[in-house]
Amino acid sequence: MESQPLIESCKGSTKPSSQQSISYKSILIWFFRKTLWQRKNVYILVTLLIPILYLLCYCLVGLNEPNYKYAKEVIESIVKEERQGYLVYSDYCKIVDRDPYKYEIMMLFNDTVLQPCKPYPPLTQVHYDSSIQRYLLSVDPIAFPKYNVKHSFGCCYNGVERISDDYIELTECQPFTSRTELSNTTDSIIVSCQTDHERIYINGHPTIPERYDVRQRLEHWAQKDRGKRVPSVLMIGIDSTSRLNLIRAMPKTTQYLYDNDWFELAGYNKIEDNTFPNLMALLVGYNLSTVLKHCNPYEINGLDQCDFIWKLFQKHGYVTAYGEDAVQINTFNYMKRGFQQPPVDHYLRPYLFVAEKQLGGFIHDYLPDCVGFELEAITVYRYAQEFANRYLNNSFFGFFWTSTHSHDTISQTRSMDEYLKEYMQGLVAQGILENSIVIFFSDHGLRFGPTRDSWSGYFEERLPFLFIWLPEFMRQAYPEFVDALRVNRKRLTTPYDLHLTLKHILSLTGRVGSQEDLGGAKDCPQCQSLFKPIPLNRSCADVSIEDHWCTCRTFKRTTDKILTRLAQHTVEHINSLLANGSYLNRCEPLQLNQIQHAYRADANAFDPRHVRIYMLTLTTLPNYAKYEATLRYDKLQPKHNKIRLTGSVSRINSYRGYIGCLGRDPMIRYCYCRNQLRKSYSETNYL
Ligand SMILES: *[C@@H]1O[C@H](CO)[C@@H](O)[C@H](O)[C@H]1NC(C)=O
Ligand SMILES: *[C@@H]1O[C@H](CO)[C@@H](O)[C@H](O)[C@H]1NC(C)=O
Ligand SMILES: *[C@@H]1O[C@H](CO)[C@@H](O)[C@H](O)[C@H]1NC(C)=O
Ligand SMILES: *[C@@H]1O[C@H](CO)[C@@H](O)[C@H](O)[C@H]1NC(C)=O
Ligand SMILES: *[C@@H]1O[C@H](CO)[C@@H](O)[C@H](O)[C@H]1NC(C)=O
Ligand SMILES: *[C@@H]1O[C@H](CO)[C@@H](O)[C@H](O)[C@H]1NC(C)=O
Repeated sequence: MESQPLIESCKGSTKPSSQQSISYKSILIWFFRKTLWQRKNVYILVTLLIPILYLLCYCLVGLNEPNYKYAKEVIESIVKEERQGYLVYSDYCKIVDRDPYKYEIMMLFNDTVLQPCKPYPPLTQVHYDSSIQRYLLSVDPIAFPKYNVKHSFGCCYNGVERISDDYIELTECQPFTSRTELSNTTDSIIVSCQTDHERIYINGHPTIPERYDVRQRLEHWAQKDRGKRVPSVLMIGIDSTSRLNLIRAMPKTTQYLYDNDWFELAGYNKIEDNTFPNLMALLVGYNLSTVLKHCNPYEINGLDQCDFIWKLFQKHGYVTAYGEDAVQINTFNYMKRGFQQPPVDHYLRPYLFVAEKQLGGFIHDYLPDCVGFELEAITVYRYAQEFANRYLNNSFFGFFWTSTHSHDTISQTRSMDEYLKEYMQGLVAQGILENSIVIFFSDHGLRFGPTRDSWSGYFEERLPFLFIWLPEFMRQAYPEFVDALRVNRKRLTTPYDLHLTLKHILSLTGRVGSQEDLGGAKDCPQCQSLFKPIPLNRSCADVSIEDHWCTCRTFKRTTDKILTRLAQHTVEHINSLLANGSYLNRCEPLQLNQIQHAYRADANAFDPRHVRIYMLTLTTLPNYAKYEATLRYDKLQPKHNKIRLTGSVSRINSYRGYIGCLGRDPMIRYCYCRNQLRKSYSETNYL
């Protein structure tokens, strides 16, 4: 009878109130009077007293309390993590798991198919002959009849020689008959064949020639390993592809990754607007302002000063390679100075630079399609595979990047699904996955165009895909990495974490004193290797992601009075950028046309009460541009400081109009050329 209210009263609080203490006392007195003075009731007393004392202890000392509380916390966190509908769920970060097939996005999605570049196969091929350690160039007897050659013909090849990133020479054309050995001093060749009347064939072949210095380095370091297995690293990136667009446009490839135990990082969030800064965070560990300070890409020799991760791998006995398609907009060359020295041992740019010019193919908005007999992206993928095959038994680091089939629309990349799935299967069949960590990833999602008018587009822009393959021998040697990667699937992660993961991999080789010797990720002190569990309570602020790029918040539509001031602030900010230096003479100032949408963020646990976060899209005149901005309104700040823009102001429709007066300056996203400079009306999507 007595026990019921006692349990109830102590559940809620650790310390009983004074009233409750009095009631315990009166109960005890009652027992004393009723039982202790009547000896015959002593048995009843003992049997009643034991459970009552136990309950008293439970309430007063809180015997079970800590355990109960702990269990509750653990259960809550598990329940929260498993929360349906979220990629990441904590008090500090809630990333909504969106449906890739929502109507708002599917209505913009088209099926596309891979078109062959030519209706017949190439007349020549190259393959590496390990017995002579040279590539052999030969005429393919099976392809030959397809060329329907009636006259006698001759073939010759030019070596491609890099003078600089933007100046490539061809050596004199070397004639050959059906077969010839290529020199190990040539990286790649252009081959052509002609009859007396006409050229019947032109094509190119990039190669990975055997180099003495590279082989020396590999052997020297391998000796030091004393049989220890050292993993290689293969990075394959696709520009402008969100996690959701990978699922949507490449269902077969994605399913293949899920079925074969690749590790997905579903909360991988970009840290900046476009490719360059996101890749620099990954490859160097710097944010944009640090890059400009330490290794300015706009200065000659600037990028050569950057501590790229591939240099670190090379320094510790790895052979390195880098290949990227669309040479006109290459990450390190578009409006930048590129590299003075080749950045890696095997550098694809010189070949593609020549190939794009000589081998023709359709070029749309800087994006070439075919280069010779294959899509340029496929040239990059095949080069990556050849590199991995050539150094299968050695330690290699390769970085390969393509944008030609993904940069402009969410649909185009659909055509590569079958190819990429088979490509992954090919990596397995060739044994490349046995010794290599493969990182399959993107930098951000599509940044402009009609998809950006929807919430799907907003989140997809900020959440690129990332999958990691860990070879079996590493899964066995480091089961804790597997556990961590499983946990991290549903954590907020960044390119800086990926940078630190690469350094972590290098530190595992035993070729480095400690991971500390390699340095961290300079501009994200709290970032960490993805091979270690990431705390659930991580927020964007912890990992240097500004509010504008952060996907950790949910938003509600708002009509707060402050909106007009926020919009004005945004336009004034753009105008202050245009008021600077040479833009002043070339670009018209902008005016606010309309606020299209306005949202207020639901606060996360770290967000101070006095700060409100707003996201708005607005249009301006005279350029009819659509912008997206994220602003903080801080009540406690002095009047002129209450509003602050975060990140930068995103241009979310294509740049069209009178923008030619700025050439390729990234400021064209804000510029409308002044009257006398309006030469041509152009439409371009690049910055
Ligand atoms: C899809 O393809 C059709 C036919 O090729 C074309 O008319 C339509 O504009 C395309 N839609 C999109 C969103 O690209
Ligand atoms: C090319 O190979 C020869 C041996 O066949 C070697 O002596 C030479 O150093 C190599 N050249 C380079 C650039 O590695
Ligand atoms: C790698 O080693 C295996 C076994 O020793 C050998 O069969 C293979 O030819 C080697 N591959 C390369 C590219 O050296
Ligand atoms: C880059 O990081 C430094 C700190 O390392 C910070 O002071 C600076 O504001 C950051 N810049 C950007 C553009 O985020
Ligand atoms: C976040 O979690 C880590 C460990 O899980 C802990 O050390 C840290 O104090 C927590 N931070 C906050 C703000 O709760
Ligand atoms: C204006 O441009 C100069 C150099 O061109 C730069 O140092 C300065 O920070 C710019 N000012 C603003 C407000 O952007």
